[in-house]
Amino acid sequence: MRYTVTAALIYANGPIHIGHLAGCYIPADIFVRYLRSKGQDVAFISGTDEHGVPITIKAKKEGITPQEVVDKYYSIIKQSFEDFGISFDIYSRTTNPVHHETSQEFFRTMYDKGYFDEIATEQYFDETANQFLADRYIVGECPVCHNDGAYGDQCEKCGSSLSPTELINPRSTISGSKPVMKETKNWYLPLDKMQPQIEKYVNSHTEWKTNVFGQCQSWLKQGLQPRAMTRDLDWGVKVPVEGAEGKVLYVWFDAPIGYISMTKEWAEKAGKNWEDYWKNPDTKLINFIGKDNIVFHCIIFPAMCMAEGSYILADNVPANEFMNLENDKISTSRNWAVWLHEYLEEFPGKQDVLRYVLTANAPETKDNDFTWKDFQTKNNSELVGIYGNFVNRTVVLTQKYFEGKVPEKGSLETVDTDTLKALAELPAQIAGSLQHYKFREALAGMMEVARLGNKYLADTEPWKVWKENPERVATILNIATQITATLAIVSEPFLPFTAKKIYTQLSSSRWALAGDSPVWADAGQASLVPAGTEVLQDGLLFEKIEDAAIEAQVQKLLNSKKLNELEGKTVPALKPVIQFDDFARMDIRIGTILEAEPMKKSKKLLKFLVDDGFEKRTILSGIAEHFSPEEMVGRQVTFIANLAPRAMMGVESQGMILMAEDKDGSLSLIQPHKEVWSGATVN
Ligand code: 2FM
Ligand code: ZN
Repeated sequence: MRYTVTAALIYANGPIHIGHLAGCYIPADIFVRYLRSKGQDVAFISGTDEHGVPITIKAKKEGITPQEVVDKYYSIIKQSFEDFGISFDIYSRTTNPVHHETSQEFFRTMYDKGYFDEIATEQYFDETANQFLADRYIVGECPVCHNDGAYGDQCEKCGSSLSPTELINPRSTISGSKPVMKETKNWYLPLDKMQPQIEKYVNSHTEWKTNVFGQCQSWLKQGLQPRAMTRDLDWGVKVPVEGAEGKVLYVWFDAPIGYISMTKEWAEKAGKNWEDYWKNPDTKLINFIGKDNIVFHCIIFPAMCMAEGSYILADNVPANEFMNLENDKISTSRNWAVWLHEYLEEFPGKQDVLRYVLTANAPETKDNDFTWKDFQTKNNSELVGIYGNFVNRTVVLTQKYFEGKVPEKGSLETVDTDTLKALAELPAQIAGSLQHYKFREALAGMMEVARLGNKYLADTEPWKVWKENPERVATILNIATQITATLAIVSEPFLPFTAKKIYTQLSSSRWALAGDSPVWADAGQASLVPAGTEVLQDGLLFEKIEDAAIEAQVQKLLNSKKLNELEGKTVPALKPVIQFDDFARMDIRIGTILEAEPMKKSKKLLKFLVDDGFEKRTILSGIAEHFSPEEMVGRQVTFIANLAPRAMMGVESQGMILMAEDKDGSLSLIQPHKEVWSGATVN
C-alpha cells in the first residue's frame, strides 16, 4: 500500500510549543514510523505556511519584512522538529518557486473550467496606506462587549466572531486612520453549489473520528457559503489571471496545495514519481492536523480538488483537539506555553519523555491538560519504574551471570510458554490501535510489553535461582532479552531515541533490523535475538526527574502569569473633582519615625512612634507585609496629621502614613527628596 501522510503546514511566525506536537506532529510521526516498519511506501510531507496575514502582522510587530520573518522561523521550526525526531521525508516552505507555480496552475485549471464566480464587494480600504484591509488590520469597538480593541474578525475579549463592518468606530491598524468602503473584485469558490458532492464525500467517511465527522456535519448543516479564494494583499502567491493586479491567493487556498508542491520537491530529490502520491486512487492520503484546521481539510480543500479534477481526496483526517497547559489554554501572546527549544535546554536528551507524556495524554477525543506534575509522575513511575527498570534488569543480569552474552534457552516451563504467548499477541493488538489512530491505546499496549517483562522477572526471580540452577537462569534471561527486543520494535514509533539505544545495546545481534529501521513483523517472536549476542551496557534509558526541576518549570509559568496580569492592569480611574477647600482642610506633614514594632496578632500592622515636630505620636500602618520594623526606623514619612484618631486592635492610631502603590501591588514610601525638619507641612 502507498501512503501520502501530511502534517499541517504551520505558519512561520513563531517557534513551536507542546500544543503543536501533541495536536498533530507526534501522532503523524508515530503513524508514519509504524507504516515504515510494516514496509509500506510512505511519503511524509510537511513544511511551513509562509503566506497570509499572520506573517505580515508579525513582520509589522518585529519591524522586519515578511520574508525576514519566514526565513527566521522556518529554520527555528525545522530545527525543533528535527530535535524531537519528527521524521518528515521533506520539510519545506510555501515561498519556494515550485509552490507558487503549483498553486497558480491549480487556480488556473479551476478558472479555465469556469469554477470561480467573480464577485464585487465593498471592503474597508485605508486611504493613507493605499491598501485594502484584511480583517486583522481593522480594530474598533466590539458591538457585543464594547471592548475597544476588537479585531475585524473576532473580539478576543468576549470571543464573538465578527465581520469588519460590525465594528463601532473602525480604525486601520496600519495608519490609525478611519477606513473607507471601496469596491473590489474577488474570485469565489461556490461551495453552496458544491454542497451535494461535498456531503457525499464526507458521508462516505463515517469511520472518521467523531470530533472530525461531527464538525463537518455541523458545517454542512449550516449550509456552505461561497468563499473568496483571492485577497487584496501584496504578500502571497500572485493570482495568475488578468485583471488581478494587487491580489494574491487566499492563504487557505495555497497552503494545502503546499502538500502537493512539497511532494514534488521530495520526489525530484528521492527519484520518485510525485504523481504516484497524489493522482493514483490506490494511494491513501492522510492529513494530520489540529482541530482548528478541520473545515479547511475536510470541506474546502476537498472541494478545490474536486473542482480541479486530478487529485485524490483525503482518506482520513485524524485531527486532535487542543492540549491545554496547567488548566489554561496555551497562548503564545500570554507566553503560556512550553516552547520546544526551551524544553530541550532544560531537559537535554529527554525528547522521548515529552513524546511519551504528550501521547499518553493526547487530546484525541476532547481537549486535554498537560501538567508538570503529571509529566514527572509519568517519567518516574512509568518510564523509569516500568520500562527502564525492565530493560536495565535484563541487561545487568545478563552481564552479571553470562558476561554480557545472551544465554541459550533450555527447556521451557509453563510460565515461559505463557509469557511468550502473551508476547506474541501484543504487537497485533498495538497495530490494531495504530491503524485506527488510537495512539493512547497503542502506547498503553507498548507499556504492556514492559509490564509483561517485569512480571516475568518477578515471577521467575532469576537472582534467587542462580545458585542451584544456572541453566534455568539462562532460559529466563534469554526470554527476557526476547521481550526487550520486541519492546524496542514496538516502541520505535513512540520513543525513537530510546528504541535506538536498545538496538545499540543489542548491536551485535542478527535480529532483523535493517539499519535503524525496525521490522514490525519481527515483534513478538520467541527467538529474535540469537544466543551468543553481545549485550552492551549503554547507561540508563530514563532518569528520575527531581521535584526541584518540576518546581522550576511551574515557577516559570507563574512568572508569565504575573507578567500578564501586570500587562493587563491599568491605572485606577480618577476620583470625582474636589474643591481647593476640600484639599486645604487636610493637614499633611513630614514626620520622622523614632520607633517601630510589629503589632501582636496582626500580620499586616506595624506600630510607629513618630516625631511630628510637637510631640511623639503613635501611628499604625498596614504595611507589615512590605516593610520590616528595622528598616523603617529613622525614615522620614509623609502623613495626614489631622485625621480623626482610630482604634485598631486596642491601640489608637493618630494619623495615616501615605504610600504609593505600584502596578504589582508593592508599596513605596512618599519621602521628601532631601531631609526636612520634622513637622514640615506639605502643600
Ligand atoms: O493553522 C495554521 O498554522 C495553518 N497555517 C495550517 C495550514 S495547514 C495546510 F493547509 F497547509
Ligand atoms: Zn467583545
